[in-house]
Amino acid sequence: MSRRLWITVRLIGLGVAGCANAGEQSEVALALGALAQDGYATPEDAKASLGERLFEDPGLSASGTQSCASCHREDQAFTGNNHDDPSFPVAIGAFPSLFGSRNTPTAMYTSFIPAFGFVPAQRGGQTTFIPQGGVFWDGRADSLEQQAGGPFLNPREMAQPSKQAVIDAVAVAEYAPLFESVFGAGALADTERAYDQLTEAIAAYERTPSFSPFSSKFDAMLRGMAQFSDQEQRGFELFSDREKGNCLLCHTGTPGSSEPHDWLFSDLGYHTLAVPRNCDIPDNADAEHHDLGLCARADIGERLPPEVSDPEAFRTQLCGAFKTPSLRNISQSAPYMHNGFFKDLRQVVEFYATRETNPSAWYPSESGVLLKYDDLPGPHKANVVSVFAPFDRAEGQEPRLSPDEIDAIVAFLYTLRDGYEL
Ligand code: HEC
Ligand code: HEC
Repeated sequence: MSRRLWITVRLIGLGVAGCANAGEQSEVALALGALAQDGYATPEDAKASLGERLFEDPGLSASGTQSCASCHREDQAFTGNNHDDPSFPVAIGAFPSLFGSRNTPTAMYTSFIPAFGFVPAQRGGQTTFIPQGGVFWDGRADSLEQQAGGPFLNPREMAQPSKQAVIDAVAVAEYAPLFESVFGAGALADTERAYDQLTEAIAAYERTPSFSPFSSKFDAMLRGMAQFSDQEQRGFELFSDREKGNCLLCHTGTPGSSEPHDWLFSDLGYHTLAVPRNCDIPDNADAEHHDLGLCARADIGERLPPEVSDPEAFRTQLCGAFKTPSLRNISQSAPYMHNGFFKDLRQVVEFYATRETNPSAWYPSESGVLLKYDDLPGPHKANVVSVFAPFDRAEGQEPRLSPDEIDAIVAFLYTLRDGYEL
C-alpha cells in the first residue's frame, strides 16, 4: 500500500472509532467509499489487500520473524519451508528449534477446494464412499478461513500463545486502521470476532488472481495462443494415457475442454502412494512414528459416513492416504510429497514408473530383506494403490515409462508454470 493511502486510511480509522449510533452506517460507508477512491475498486479488494498485509507480516508470530509468506513464498508458487535448503524436507517454525512434520504444499489454486466430505459412488453394484476435498494434506480444514486460523497458534509454526496475542500484534501494526476500515470501527476490540475477520481477510487474499492466475503455457495452449513443443505434446499424451503414466486419473482435467478452470490437475481425492520414509524429518528419529495422513486426523471418527457398517475397518483403509495436490506450478515447488522425500521433479516421475519394477531403488533393506513401503506399518501396506498403470507391474518387468518418456512428462509438467510470456 502506498504511503498516501495509509495516511488516508489512518484518518478514516480515527474518524469511525467509537461510533455506535445511527451515524455509524454512513461513516463506514464513507470509509469504504474513500477506500475505493484510493485504489480499491470494491470492499472485497480492500479486504484482500488487508489479507495480503496480514499474510506478509512477521510481526504476527511469537518471535516476530515469521509470516505466512515465510513458508508460502510467491517466487516458489507459495510454497517454501522457511529455509533455502531443498534437502531439508519440512518447515522450520518461528523459533528455529521448532520443526513441522510435513512439507509445505502450494497455497495456489486452493480456492477451488471444497469442504471435506465423503462422496458416495457405485462400485461393483455396491455403494462406497470416497473422501474428497478439505484443505491441508489430510483435509482437516474445511475452508481457507479455517485453515488460516491454524498457523498463528501452532507451536511448530508461528507459535503465538493465544488469539489475543495475535490480535494485539495486529492492533499495533501499521495496517491496523485498514483493518478497522474494512471491518468497522472498534473491530479489534472483540478478540474472537477480530480473529475470525483476520482469517476472512487472509482467505480473501488467497482467492485473488495472484493465487490462481491461470497464466501458464498450458493455459495459453488451451486458449489457442501457444503451442506445445513435440516433447511437451508427447509428455501430455503419456500423462493422460491410461496404459502409460495414467497421471490424469488422479491429477485430473477435463479432456476436450479449453477452459483453464477445468484443468486443476487434482481430483481432490486421497490416495496411498507409499512414498518412502524420509529420515531427514526430525519426528522420524522415533522409529515408531509414522505420518498416516487421513486416517490419523483427530476428527476422522466423527466425519466418517454414518452408513458405514464397520467404521474402524473403514478408517483403517484411509491410513497412508494424502490429498492429491494440484500440479500447477509444480516445477517451482521442490521438494515434493507430504514428506518432501523427492528433491526434484524427475525423481517423482521415476518413482511412479519404477516403484513396482525396481523397489530396491526406493526402499531400504535390512539384513538383506527389502522393506517395501517402509513408511507404512504392516497392515496399512494393503492400502497402497497398485492395480492400475503405472503401478501395475511386477519386480523386474519393464516399467510403464521409459527414461525418454519420463523426460517428456517432466517437460509437460514445466508447461504448468504460471507467468508464461506469449
Ligand atoms: C512454518 C511454516 C508455515 C507457516 C508459517 C504457514 N504455513 Fe501454511 N502450510 C505449511 C505446511 C507444512 C502445510 C501442510 C500442513 C499439513 O498438511 O498438515 C501448510 C498448509 C497450508 C495450506 C493448505 C494447502 C493445501 O493444498 O491444502 C494453506 C492454504 C496454507 N498453508 C496457508 C497458510 C497461511 C494463510 C498461513 C499464515 C496464517 C500459513 N499457511 C503459515 C507451512 C506453513
Ligand atoms: C492414484 C492417484 C495418483 C496417480 C495415478 C498419480 N498421482 Fe501424483 N500424487 C497423488 C497423490 C495422492 C500425491 C500426494 C502423495 C503424498 O504426498 O503422499 C501425489 C503427488 C504428486 C506430485 C508431488 C506434488 C507436490 O506438490 O509435492 C507430483 C509431481 C505428482 N504427483 C505427479 C504425478 C505424475 C507425473 C503422475 C503420473 C506418472 C502421477 N502423479 C500419478 C496421486 C496420484
